Amino acid sequence: MTAPNTVPASPAPRVNPLQRLWLRELGMERLWLRPAPQPVAVPAPQVVVSKTDSPVVEPAGAAAAPVRDVAAPPPAAAQPQVQTPVARAAGPGPGLRNGPPPKPAPKAAVEEAAPAVIPVAEAVKNANLDELREQVLACTACGLCGGRRHAVFGHGGQPTRWLVVGEAPGEQEDRQGQPFVGRSGQLLDAMLSAVGMSRERDVFIANVIKCRPPGNRNPKPEEIAACSPYLMRQIALLKPERILVLGRFAAQTLLGTDATIGSLRGRVHQMKTDEGREIPVIVSYHPAYLLRSPAEKARAWQDLKLAARLV
Ligand code: URA
Repeated sequence: MTAPNTVPASPAPRVNPLQRLWLRELGMERLWLRPAPQPVAVPAPQVVVSKTDSPVVEPAGAAAAPVRDVAAPPPAAAQPQVQTPVARAAGPGPGLRNGPPPKPAPKAAVEEAAPAVIPVAEAVKNANLDELREQVLACTACGLCGGRRHAVFGHGGQPTRWLVVGEAPGEQEDRQGQPFVGRSGQLLDAMLSAVGMSRERDVFIANVIKCRPPGNRNPKPEEIAACSPYLMRQIALLKPERILVLGRFAAQTLLGTDATIGSLRGRVHQMKTDEGREIPVIVSYHPAYLLRSPAEKARAWQDLKLAARLV
């Protein structure tokens, strides 16, 4: 029953987990988390699961569960911002000037002038792919920029049939500035070619995080928050036919869940873009995991066939 003098709670807007990060970044989180006089249902996730015709045996302990939006929002992150070049104080133009010439600004004042900063989500909003690449390569939105050799934007063919999303660059990727070029990358290429897909021609490969976390540690929530707008913009620009997500971290981040990879793989999820387009998402094991656990390659093969059947 609605309490007197209260407005009945309207349904919360449908936002996906990455959009939530954007909203937080833009300081508009309250649009999503706005207080309601009545208990309000958790916003319906944008990710839905559809059944497939390929029953998959899950590893022990990985019970198939409907994907719910259960990911606890990461702790409030510092506003990720892209540094923009500081505008130089323009000198007086040519022409007559009345009175004495203006005194030069005191040195301290010039040095203290705060650089203009733009939130990442704002900066990427209208960027094309080349501009987005430049933004990623120059990004200083989180602490990972301090330890990187190269930010890794991603690489691949266009039009993009599959967008392959990994976690973050490793050592080789950081050295070369390209995604999946180490041993994991060799296995990924072999997996893709087994279903007739080529890195150069059909597939764009990117990561959730564009800079290498030190020692390949798991990315922190604030790093995910800072970097997510880049991946979202890549998805919007590349318009892939489907997305193949590799590994627990990328799958949980993209689908906004803490479900196990065993329960996420073997079926087709749908991701709704800002333009309302639904992109099928297939989850599989990370090649680095497959190198350590070759027995799981059979399941990864099932996942790739599932993805390929949808083409
Ligand atoms: N692992 C990833 O998740 N991404 C890469 O680019 C390389 C290794």
